[in-house]
Amino acid sequence: MNAVREPIGVIGTGYVGLVTAAGFAELGSDVYCVDIDAAKIATLQRGEVPIYEPGLAEVIERNSHRLHFSTSLDAAIANSRLLFVSVGTPPTYAGDADLSAVLAVVDEMPASSDHALVMKSTVPCGTGRSICRLLAEQGKGQLSYVSCPEFLKEGSAIEDFTRPDRVVVGDDGEGWAGDAVSELYAPLGAPLVRTDVASAEMIKLASNAFLATKISFINEIANVCEETGANVLEVARGVGLDERIGPKFLSAGIGYGGSCFTKDVSALKLLAANSGYHFQLLGSVIEVNELQKRRVVSKLARRFEGSLAGRQIGLLGLAFKPNTDDMRGASSLVLAARLEAEGAQVRAFDPVATDEARKIMPELAYAERVEEVIAGADAIVLVTEWPQFLALDWAAVAASMRGNVVIDGRNALDAAAVRSAGLDYEGIGIG
Ligand code: UGA
Repeated sequence: MNAVREPIGVIGTGYVGLVTAAGFAELGSDVYCVDIDAAKIATLQRGEVPIYEPGLAEVIERNSHRLHFSTSLDAAIANSRLLFVSVGTPPTYAGDADLSAVLAVVDEMPASSDHALVMKSTVPCGTGRSICRLLAEQGKGQLSYVSCPEFLKEGSAIEDFTRPDRVVVGDDGEGWAGDAVSELYAPLGAPLVRTDVASAEMIKLASNAFLATKISFINEIANVCEETGANVLEVARGVGLDERIGPKFLSAGIGYGGSCFTKDVSALKLLAANSGYHFQLLGSVIEVNELQKRRVVSKLARRFEGSLAGRQIGLLGLAFKPNTDDMRGASSLVLAARLEAEGAQVRAFDPVATDEARKIMPELAYAERVEEVIAGADAIVLVTEWPQFLALDWAAVAASMRGNVVIDGRNALDAAAVRSAGLDYEGIGIG
């Protein structure tokens, strides 16, 4: 890219902010990144990347001359018109999205018709309207507002940034900012959805809610498959070939995790409730997912005549999915806690997420190598489908375990290979 590209500011350097910053820097923009976390900014200034995301460190390093990090907004405001906001919107105790970090940024925005606040953080539908009202009350009504939701997945974030299925740009005015954001994304050649702010906000929430619904749906189908002798892998293949349904997000397992689905499904349900609508379907999506996280416990209990007391259970993986160290909402949190509550001795290994896991589950026994969770185990459970677990030598696993139970929580192992090593294999909905 050699054409001069619009410089931008990115406020909040979490997954979304850093990937957005790195992605636009790669496309040629100077990017002014801001975060209130001084330690994180110091890390980034040293050229280190505080999160695990494949390919991100390389893109940041390659574009270090275009990436500027600061705890102050000054350089971002002085050098860029478009101020992307990608701060966290974690759930409150009530389950709504906590907008305090977003509102703190709004307070810092300049009273300037030359700047635009571009919302990347996932916010409830209606937030844009409230923010514009707030800006007007603060005498900053001339600032433009654009909703530009992010659809990237952790673990493949760089690829998702570079090749998005669509770019959504929501604005309510005739102003320049929506065009400028669209222009920024133009080199990616993705379908562009220009819409109003509220619809852009809802597109984000509805997309995540639909994907979560697909997962809970296939998980329930898997559970029925177990009762009826069908195989959910075959069922998903046959169902997914219908173009109206599609093959993606039909993998049954131990439930979806991560910060986004958990948070956004609940936030959408409560957003509906707060406006007087009872979103029944999402209540079930959430409940199915919570039960699914516990399903392995009953599978194990059946293997051990109803009691897990004293049984040694090895967990293969902890992260909510492979290629990330993110533990937020991970099914492993519920699984480990439930197994320990049943009296099992749990030992876990994750190639990347152990440090993050330790912060949330300091008491859990962690192994340095996968072999350590296998040795002497009565049962092992595939929790996260990291490639190294799929490539295990099953004969060696069988020789090292005390028992022979292998529960495949992701239907990702080669069942025939596991069984031919003499192990007792069970997946989710595959008999
Ligand atoms: C999700 C969405 O896929 C992104 O489009 C969105 O931008 C992001 O949330 C967000 O709102 O920030 P992410 O949470 O990174 O992305 O991860 P996914 O790949 O969607 O997986 C979520 C969970 O669902 C994982 O625990 C995964 O194991 C599980 N899953 C996924 C299934 O159990 N079955 C499937 O078929 C697919």
